[in-house]
Amino acid sequence: MEIKTVGVLGAGTMGHGIAQILVRSGYKVLLNDVSQQFLDSGAARIAKGLNRDVEKNRLSQEEREQALGRLTTTTRVSDLEAVDFIIEAVTENFDAKVGVLRAVEPHCGPGVIFASNTSSISITRLAAATQRPARVIGLHFFNPVPVMKLVEVVPGLETSAETLETAETLATSAGKSPVRVNDAPGFISNRLLMPMINEAIYCLMEGVADAKGIDDVMKLGMNHPMGPLELADLIGLDVCLDIMKVLYEGFCDSKYRPCPLLEKMVNARRLGRKTGQGFYGYPTSSVRP
Ligand SMILES: NC(=O)c1ccc[n+]([C@@H]2O[C@H](COP(=O)([O-])OP(=O)(O)OC[C@H]3O[C@@H](n4cnc5c(N)ncnc54)[C@H](O)[C@@H]3O)[C@@H](O)[C@H]2O)c1
Repeated sequence: MEIKTVGVLGAGTMGHGIAQILVRSGYKVLLNDVSQQFLDSGAARIAKGLNRDVEKNRLSQEEREQALGRLTTTTRVSDLEAVDFIIEAVTENFDAKVGVLRAVEPHCGPGVIFASNTSSISITRLAAATQRPARVIGLHFFNPVPVMKLVEVVPGLETSAETLETAETLATSAGKSPVRVNDAPGFISNRLLMPMINEAIYCLMEGVADAKGIDDVMKLGMNHPMGPLELADLIGLDVCLDIMKVLYEGFCDSKYRPCPLLEKMVNARRLGRKTGQGFYGYPTSSVRP
């Protein structure tokens, strides 16, 4: 199945990054979000990301212009009738994801594959909420998308072999290294990563060390490139909390209980880099409108 145009739903942290690598790899991208303001912010971040590639001699100025020419933004789901493949990267919430997939589905041909960038939600369950369970799959990119090589490819119970092959081919052609992982809460990545981040937040809440101390232990002692609290700020504390809830509910195991401090920070909209304040403070230039 040949893919030329990809619809990316959600222009946030992940959606803009996914759109960026796709236009860079020669795909046309239709980027969709609920407001033009979010789309403009996503498009500006893509332009900035491609600029960085030019500065580092990874891309010529002409290739940058061509890549940007392959990007279109829209708030209208009806425009998605032009796409061959959908990647959903909206908020990590089952109802939100089902809502957007159901809104888009009547505008897409029956052969169009729906890939979800969910970090933890069951692909089988998302697939069952659509009319095309054989054509639904997880394509879990990592943050920042242009930098991180991994894509977890997650087939649901009903996902067809053709869907799996098409999704893996797309990921590979966009320069990524797909790894197949079966459908289970948090897949592999977040089942291992999020409990560590959650535990780091417990350490902070209990006063075992301050944020810098906790991060330094993991960077200097375990050779992690970023500490768990820095990483939580990069991911977004709301996303971390949503994933912990999926693990907690999915396994019915108290070891995944979200740390109360994480809940408190999300309630206060201290979401990390995207709001300018998380476990650390960030310059306002990195804050989304
Ligand atoms: N942040 C990370 O590090 C990371 C890493 C891997 C996967 N993910 C996953 O990617 C997905 C998106 O996360 P994010 O960090 O980019 O979130 P984000 O909050 O930065 O962006 C989400 C975007 O979705 C948009 N949106 C919400 N409802 C929509 C709708 N109905 N139609 C179109 N757009 C809609 C929002 O306006 C927002 O721009 C989540 O499933 C998350 O778990 C996140």
